[in-house]
Amino acid sequence: MKPFIPPQHRQAWKALQTLSQSAQPHLRELLKDPKRVEQWQVSGAGISIDYSRQRVTAEVLQQLLALADESQVMAQAEAMFRGDAINTTEQRAVLHVALRGSHVPNPPWGASISKAVGHELLRVCMFAEKVREGQLKGHAGESITDVVNLGIGGSDLGPRMTTEALSHLTRESYKNKVRVHYVSNVDAWSLYTTLATLDPARTAFVVQSKTFTTQETMTLAALAKRWLLDAGCPEGQLHQHLIAVTANPEISEAQGFTPAHTFGFWDWVGGRYSVWSAIGLPLAISIGAFAFQDMLLGARAMDEHFMSAPKDQNLPLLMALFGVWNRNFLGATTHNIAPYASPLGKFASFLQQMDMESNGKRTHIDGSPVEVATAPVLWGGLGIDGQHAYFQLIHQGQHLVPMDFIGLRTERSPLPFAAEHHRVVLLNMQAQAQALAMGRSPEETVQALRDSGLEEAEVQRLTPHRSYPGNVPSSTIWVDALTPRSMGALMALYEHKVFCQAAIWGVHAYDQWGVELGKKMAKDMEAAEAARHKV
Ligand code: F6P
Repeated sequence: MKPFIPPQHRQAWKALQTLSQSAQPHLRELLKDPKRVEQWQVSGAGISIDYSRQRVTAEVLQQLLALADESQVMAQAEAMFRGDAINTTEQRAVLHVALRGSHVPNPPWGASISKAVGHELLRVCMFAEKVREGQLKGHAGESITDVVNLGIGGSDLGPRMTTEALSHLTRESYKNKVRVHYVSNVDAWSLYTTLATLDPARTAFVVQSKTFTTQETMTLAALAKRWLLDAGCPEGQLHQHLIAVTANPEISEAQGFTPAHTFGFWDWVGGRYSVWSAIGLPLAISIGAFAFQDMLLGARAMDEHFMSAPKDQNLPLLMALFGVWNRNFLGATTHNIAPYASPLGKFASFLQQMDMESNGKRTHIDGSPVEVATAPVLWGGLGIDGQHAYFQLIHQGQHLVPMDFIGLRTERSPLPFAAEHHRVVLLNMQAQAQALAMGRSPEETVQALRDSGLEEAEVQRLTPHRSYPGNVPSSTIWVDALTPRSMGALMALYEHKVFCQAAIWGVHAYDQWGVELGKKMAKDMEAAEAARHKV
C-alpha cells in the first residue's frame, strides 16, 4: 500500500473543495431532471438506495469516486478481509466479516478462523434451541422461561435492537417458550423493574462482556447472583442459571460460569461489531437459530456486494462518499437516521455506537492530527415521531441535517388494515424527503398564500415565516421487508459505510481509547475509595 497522505492533500479532495466553493445547484434544480430520480438508484443484497436527493452533481460524484480510489478504500477493505492487523493501536485483525462467512470456500481470512467460528456458531445455535424448547433447567428442575441479558454497549445494543426489529418472529414461533429481556444500566431500578415480574427458579442470566471486566456489567451480574441466592438457589447450583459470553473465559470461569455455559469470541471482534458472534445468543434464543443464521447470510450477502460491486454501484461506498461530501464540503455537523418502521425504533441508537465510537477520532493512522472533520453527530429515531417533534429544526432551523430515510417495501404485520397503515407511513416518509429537498421559495409562498385567498398585507406578513429553504440532502434506503436476511444486510451496509469513511479520513475505526479512559478512571476511583475505607 502507498504511504499515507492526509485527505486534504489528495487531488480529488482539492477538486471537491473547489467544487463546493462554486455555486452548486439547489436540489429543486437537480430534481427537475426526471432521469435523475430514475437513474440515481443502486441496489444490492436486497437493499436499494435512492440517492437522487443528495446534493451531488455528476461532476461531484465523479470526484467523490476518484477520492475513494486515491484513498485506496477497496485495497484497505481487502486488507481487512484478509485478516491483516489493521487495528494497529491494539495490534489486532478486524474480522467481524469472518463471523458471517464460516461457510465460504477458501475464505481470505483462512480456514482455521472459519473452523473456529463455525464450531462456536454451532454451539450457540444448539444452546439457543435447547433454551427455546424449555430444556434448560433451573436449580429446582423447572424449565427456564425468562432469559435476562446483562451487558452494555456492543454487548447489548446489537442483540437488543435486532430482537425488537425481528420481534414478529418471537411471537410467530410456536416453539419458543422463553422471553428475553435486556438490562444494560447499572442503576438498581433498571434491573429491579425487570426482575420484579420474574420467577428466580425459572430465570437465567446471560452475562455478555468481551472483557468480562466492565464495571457496570459485573455489578449487575453480582446483583443477579444475589437475587437468585436470596430466592433460595443453593450456591453450588447458581451456575445452572448463569451463562457467559466473553473473549476472556478465564475470568468468567473464575467467577463460577461453567465451560458448558460459556460461549466465546475473539479479540478480533470489536464490541460494536459483535452481534454476529456468540453475543447474538439472546437474539438466537428469541428468534431461533435458523433465523439467526439467516441474519448472518444477509450480512454475508452485503459483504459480497461490497467487495464485488463496481464503485458507482457500491452501496456502502456511495453512502460513505455522500457522508463525506455532506460533512466535509457542505459543513453538516450532524446526520439523522429516520426509519419508518416501528420495529426499527432502536436502530439509530445501535448506529450511534457503531459510527461515533468508530470514527469519532482526531488522530490519523500515522499519529498525525486530523485536520478535517470526522464523524458527524449521528442521531435520530422513528421518522413518524420525529416529524411531529424535531423535524421542524431540519425544515427551518439553522443546522444542515442530512438524513437517511429507511422504508420497508412490504409490511408483514398480520393486523387487519396493515396495508393501509403502511401506505400512510410510506406516504409520510416520501413527503418529508421531498419537502426537505424542495423547500418553498418566497415567490412560491407568495403565490400559494394569494391562491388561498389571503389579503395582500397578510400574504406579505406571513411569507417569511412560511417559506422553507429546502436543499436538505437525503438518501432513501428501501428494505424489502423486516426479515433476518434484510436486517443482516442493512446492518452490514452501515458497518461498511463506517469502514469506508474511516479509510478516507485515515483514522482508526476499531479502537476506542476515549471510552477506555472513562472506564479506567471509574475503576481507579473505586480502588481509591476501597483503600480509604480500609484505613
Ligand atoms: O463503551 C466502551 C466499550 O468498550 C464498548 O466498546 C463495548 O462494546 C462496551 O464497552 C462493553 O464492553 P464489554 O463487552 O467488554 O463489557
